[in-house]
Amino acid sequence: MSYLDDFEKIIREQLERVERMKTAQAAPDFAAMDKIVIGTIDGDGIGPIIMDSCRAILHRLLADEIESGRIELKTIEGLTIENRIEKMQTVPDDVLAAIKECDLLLKGPTTTPGKGDGRPNLESANVTLRRELDLFANVRPVVIPEKNIDWIFYRENTEGEYALGSKGIEISDDLSVDFKVTTTAGTERLARAAFEYAKNNGNKNVSIVTKANIMKKTDGKFLSICREIAEDYPQIKVDDWYVDIMAANLIDDKINSNFNVFILPNLYGDIITDEAAQMQGGVGTAGSANIGGRYAMFEAIHGSAPRMVEDGIAEYANPASLCRAAVMMLRHMGDTDKAQRLEDVLDAAAKDLNMPGDGTGNTAFDFTDYVLKHL
Ligand code: IPM
Ligand code: MG
Repeated sequence: MSYLDDFEKIIREQLERVERMKTAQAAPDFAAMDKIVIGTIDGDGIGPIIMDSCRAILHRLLADEIESGRIELKTIEGLTIENRIEKMQTVPDDVLAAIKECDLLLKGPTTTPGKGDGRPNLESANVTLRRELDLFANVRPVVIPEKNIDWIFYRENTEGEYALGSKGIEISDDLSVDFKVTTTAGTERLARAAFEYAKNNGNKNVSIVTKANIMKKTDGKFLSICREIAEDYPQIKVDDWYVDIMAANLIDDKINSNFNVFILPNLYGDIITDEAAQMQGGVGTAGSANIGGRYAMFEAIHGSAPRMVEDGIAEYANPASLCRAAVMMLRHMGDTDKAQRLEDVLDAAAKDLNMPGDGTGNTAFDFTDYVLKHL
């Protein structure tokens, strides 16, 4: 029965991954580095347009560091759907090698072929990169000042439903099985990162979000490990919720401002962060950091918007989400002053520009001009 062999192989691979996690590299000390290489990856669809905007802004903001050679902005070519299909690789080997030579990455959205769209069934480039670079924490802030909302989501980024998302087994015409994976090491490192953030930012409240009543083994482990890590932070208020009621809580204005830091398994984090970003003004407004040990990758939380390209309105794409990701990258590098300077201008742009993304209002070029003028 070949699917039993498939299953055995899957389990072996996961056990090997657990061992690799135990020897993972620590994050670089950016302050001590003579040179930091930032790779920029355009991606597909609206990607090149919003990345051009963001690159121009970073060139202005980091002009001195680029001039002195402390920072290099390097364009990584080839992570396009056309090249990926031609090579039949989600992230072609030469592109992955170029990516691994960088210290930090800023990435535009990449298109994932969907079932039935006539393209080969390649895995999502995001999922591959998160796995290959072991970017275990997906950190997504959502801030809505007028509602007193200041949220930050720590989404597990390499496990859960995604670890084996393209390795499910079609047992027969009548039966398909997918797998969900939770590991002790994978949950511990995510929970630790979230609690450290909460501690370093005034002991913010932490909420653990699972569906441990149904997914007893995987979410059950996730919840109990988060609770164990919480014991190291007795000063922090911790609660836990099921994901369905948390989806409701987020839009309940009587209580939603009480939440601060969220810890979630991968798929729930994917869904809940889109909901939260929409409340902030749309998925085009939120940035996202994928943090690992050796590497960190920053990106917009939205996709490549192929419909905007088909409708001929790609130039109306909003670079704000990608620029917010750049703010997170600057903070991650320790350049908090420049991060704040850019964030302030982005806040102003959000008020002064009108970018509904439907082919009316301001374009990405207007956005770039505005930010360059106000930096
Ligand atoms: C995200 C995206 C990705 C995900 C897609 C593009 C694979 O929705 O970053 O939230 O599901 O993680
Ligand atoms: Mg998503």
